[in-house]
Amino acid sequence: MLILNVSLGARSYPIHIGPALLDMPLGSFVGRQVAIVTNDVVAPLYLERLTRPLKQAGILVTEIILPDGESHKNWESLNVIYDRLLAERCDRTTPIIALGGGVVGDLAGFAAATYQRGVPFIQVPTTLLAQVDSSVGGKTGINHPRGKNMVGAFWQPRLVLADTDTLNTLPDRELSAGLAEVIKYGLIRDLPFLEWLEAHMDQLMARDSAALSYAIERSCINKAEVVAGDELETAPQGGRALLNLGHTFGHAIETGMGYGVWLHGEAVAAGILMAVELSRRLGWLAAADVERVQRLLVRAGLPVRGPALGAAQYLDLMGHDKKVIAGRLRLVLLKRLGEAVTWADAPQAEIRAAIEACCE
Ligand code: NAD
Ligand code: GLY
Repeated sequence: MLILNVSLGARSYPIHIGPALLDMPLGSFVGRQVAIVTNDVVAPLYLERLTRPLKQAGILVTEIILPDGESHKNWESLNVIYDRLLAERCDRTTPIIALGGGVVGDLAGFAAATYQRGVPFIQVPTTLLAQVDSSVGGKTGINHPRGKNMVGAFWQPRLVLADTDTLNTLPDRELSAGLAEVIKYGLIRDLPFLEWLEAHMDQLMARDSAALSYAIERSCINKAEVVAGDELETAPQGGRALLNLGHTFGHAIETGMGYGVWLHGEAVAAGILMAVELSRRLGWLAAADVERVQRLLVRAGLPVRGPALGAAQYLDLMGHDKKVIAGRLRLVLLKRLGEAVTWADAPQAEIRAAIEACCE
């Protein structure tokens, strides 16, 4: 097992990465009661494994099982969680554990941030995407019909437990979606990792456990460093915003198509290619760089063409993104492979052209 640290002063916490971590006794993190939020796909696979040692230790466990899917990352699910927490008399010391992918993690984390003004939170991510990205860094929230992740809070977990064995049951499409966020780290700040990904993509797609563990480790190291430097994404330039490469385009795809039609990682992949194409149009990348990124995304089983929403709808939806500040859209672009910047000066015509070049 590997333990990394997210350094945030009094709110620092460990990320445990390795096999069989679901069996790890959580007694020292939990008092007499705990609530576990999961969904109806993950619960039959892993809930009993997680609850058994807790129940054996005499801890009162409240299991909250939500319907699966991005379309349920909303107020209704949040209210289901609050209702159960209240019905089971969970108090301000009762930790909430998220067992599942990024949807469960974002929902349970937002419930933890807001229930009785905040309760302890533990992330047990079971998708590749959640193990490399969403479980680390404290972004929590829900979608609004008009925009992705529009309501939420920063609320750091006390512990992240990434059991790599859980990836064995992950559908191929979800594995690919997670790889989009892995590739992102290489593109924005870690060229050696990008080169490693190019050399090892076949092993990752074949679920080689050593390759997957290394990719998770390197992704979490990158994420932890960025989050430690700009926890609340307030840096005027660069900082945590760089983790959103491709996301402003991708969020437009997710919202425009209806939540859950395109997986988050798929939308991010198509969005990354739009950002890379725009970076080429601004003179920062060569055509060969764009082809190189496209090749890697395709090898990871990811789409590289966005849906035909029309450039006008993309631009309208992107105008609602959280990256818009004082009416100006701040995009994450690449100065070169391995070095990202935030950029608010891209001409609208070039953004439109990049979208059109990368759409069905
Ligand atoms: P997800 O949570 O919907 O999980 C994907 C699918 O896999 C679901 O059907 C889920 O039930 C299933 N599943 C989960 N674990 C499984 C397992 N071990 N075996 C079999 N099936 C399993 O999607 P995701 O890709 O994990 O997360 C996407 C969400 O994360 C989006 O809502 C996105 O906005 C959010 N996100 C948040 C952050 C953040 O920093 N908070 C970062 C990136 C993404
Ligand atoms: N996934 C982007 C962030 O955590 O900031």
